[in-house]
Amino acid sequence: MGSTRAVTKAVIPAAGLGTRFLPATKSQPKEMLPIVDKPAIQYVIEEAVRAGLTDILVVTGRGKRAIEDHFDRNFELEYYLEQQAKHDLLKEVQQTSEMADIHYIRQRDPLGLGHAVSVAREHVGDEPFAVLLGDDIMVDDSQLLRSMIDTHARYGRSALALKRVPQAEISAYGCVEPEPVHDGLVQVRSIVEKPAPEVAPSDLAVIGRYVFTPEIFDALDRITPGAGGELQLTDAIGLLLDTQTVYGCVFEDGRYDIGQKVDFLRANIELALDRDDLGGDVAEVLRRIVRERGLLDG
Ligand code: G1P
Repeated sequence: MGSTRAVTKAVIPAAGLGTRFLPATKSQPKEMLPIVDKPAIQYVIEEAVRAGLTDILVVTGRGKRAIEDHFDRNFELEYYLEQQAKHDLLKEVQQTSEMADIHYIRQRDPLGLGHAVSVAREHVGDEPFAVLLGDDIMVDDSQLLRSMIDTHARYGRSALALKRVPQAEISAYGCVEPEPVHDGLVQVRSIVEKPAPEVAPSDLAVIGRYVFTPEIFDALDRITPGAGGELQLTDAIGLLLDTQTVYGCVFEDGRYDIGQKVDFLRANIELALDRDDLGGDVAEVLRRIVRERGLLDG
């Protein structure tokens, strides 16, 4: 058994340049792109808060000030909404600045995900913590993070989120060699970042949710540039495996990879369909598009 301290801290790397969404991300952080009417990063922070993590460290970089402003008070806007008696909007605006204890640190150079997590060391200290990647959005009722925290509480070890993906897609992910423990839980035997499909050890991809023991920081200190010339978190997990068991929580549904344009659009459509105030109208628009463009097969 290792550390069984409760997990209370979450680290959210948000320093990436967002090149896949240019020109939208030329002068605004990709984390601020809206899914329906809420910035993507707010979904991630709400997920952390739902799982009981209220101390949040966002690792930012240059050009990311809008993230800090979004989670700060905006007195002028609050005053205006109050004057206009727009009480629901006022409440919503105030809630975004009160939902968690949010801290920021800058990653000065974009050296990779492993480096981004390593700059959280001082804030996290000698405690277990979660890492949530902003490109992965989980639907509201996803219990994934909670079950990963429970796995850590039970075994005192790190836990990764895993999902089966088609073989051709595995080279976009970290990939593990698994050893089954019980339904939905595996032990990680080995891990490799972005393997070619023909050498991938399985079809289990690492999805952007992690719960780590603090020993990951020592491993992060020892990694050298890996896939894509970047300091890879996956390589640090590989080093951690030399001294500690690492678990994988396998899940199936409820994730959008908003780093991919098609999935970004799917997230917008499906989350709008789920909304009481929009669902009916959006469904009607979709029906009309399908009809007018003859999109139904057969
Ligand atoms: C990162 C990680 C990778 C993981 C993926 C999940 O890759 O390096 O191991 O599978 O996130 O989304 P990226 O998407 O930043 O290339």
